[in-house]
Amino acid sequence: MLAGKTVVVTGGAGFIGSNLCESLLEKGATVICLDNLSTGKLENIVTFRNHPQFRLIEGDIRDLSVCLSAFAGADYVLHHAALGSVPRSIQDPHTTNEVNVAGFLNVLEAARQTSIKRLVYASSSSVYGDWEESPKIETRTGNLLSPYAVSKYTNELYAGVYQRLHGLPCIGLRYFNVFGKRQNPLGEYAAVIPRFINLLKKGEQPTIFGNGTQARDFTYIENVVQVNLKALVSAPTSTGRCYNVACGVATSLNELFALIVRLMANYYPEVAHIQPRYAPPRPGDIPFSLASIELAKTHLGYAPTHFLAEGLAATIDWYLRSDN
Ligand SMILES: NC(=O)c1ccc[n+]([C@@H]2O[C@H](COP(=O)([O-])OP(=O)(O)OC[C@H]3O[C@@H](n4cnc5c(N)ncnc54)[C@H](O)[C@@H]3O)[C@@H](O)[C@H]2O)c1
Repeated sequence: MLAGKTVVVTGGAGFIGSNLCESLLEKGATVICLDNLSTGKLENIVTFRNHPQFRLIEGDIRDLSVCLSAFAGADYVLHHAALGSVPRSIQDPHTTNEVNVAGFLNVLEAARQTSIKRLVYASSSSVYGDWEESPKIETRTGNLLSPYAVSKYTNELYAGVYQRLHGLPCIGLRYFNVFGKRQNPLGEYAAVIPRFINLLKKGEQPTIFGNGTQARDFTYIENVVQVNLKALVSAPTSTGRCYNVACGVATSLNELFALIVRLMANYYPEVAHIQPRYAPPRPGDIPFSLASIELAKTHLGYAPTHFLAEGLAATIDWYLRSDN
């Protein structure tokens, strides 16, 4: 259903965005990647950079005119440009707000002005804040714990307003700890899975913040790609909402560490002896995060195909083969 359509992927040179671009091209869509290459990399799009149906626009979503020219003539937008990371947003809330909130408003406004048929955007499990009930269901959220969470929750509010006020069909996807190929393993804001893999590969001891019992619903990238493509063509009644995107399984950081060590020991036996280092918990982190995925199953036809162990095996294989 996407062959012959034009899809703009904002943040298309990033981790999730580049996997989306690749899959859309495989489905026969024309893909316009809008990215300012701040956290994204050209290496992420190298395998399809010269595809005849792919175009990179190096530009910033903080500039409305850039969004307008990227969206002109397109059918759909998959909005993934943002500054991720809770700690980054605590250190520099202004830039997170400019990109994630003001930039998002430009994306909505450009989508409205260019008559985009549907906008699917990345929200986050961080919007659940300190809500303790488990599993998390979409209608119940707690107090927000970081500027990043505020930015994502604001996205959801603005998207609702644009749908009600202007009839722009929007779907928000609340991602729970996505992992897979092309996720940046380096730097202070790196996500836990690529960070662990990268350090273990070098024989170094990874750090777990807190006692390691905090749990996450880790979600392999293939599941995220699947739900994005489904959300573009799902029934009109499925728009105007947000959906959890996860596997519905909670894994503690201690369990995650043990699993990564076991899988990596198949390649590097010496890794089996590495123990994690423990450091104080980081402010803004959620202690326990498990999703209900019933809503996405019912309304979008989402069905996770990869669970943690197989996703990790594929991810480790990719990192060990690549230069990352
Ligand atoms: N990875 C996760 O676990 C996760 C979880 C929840 C939500 N998300 C959301 O998913 C989206 C994609 O995340 P990711 O993990 O792929 O991160 P990423 O950093 O790899 O990708 C983000 C991309 O956006 C681009 N970008 C940033 N600011 C921009 C700007 N002003 N203009 C144009 N492009 C800009 C970056 O260069 C990068 O290519 C983000 O909205 C993020 O908040 C990710």
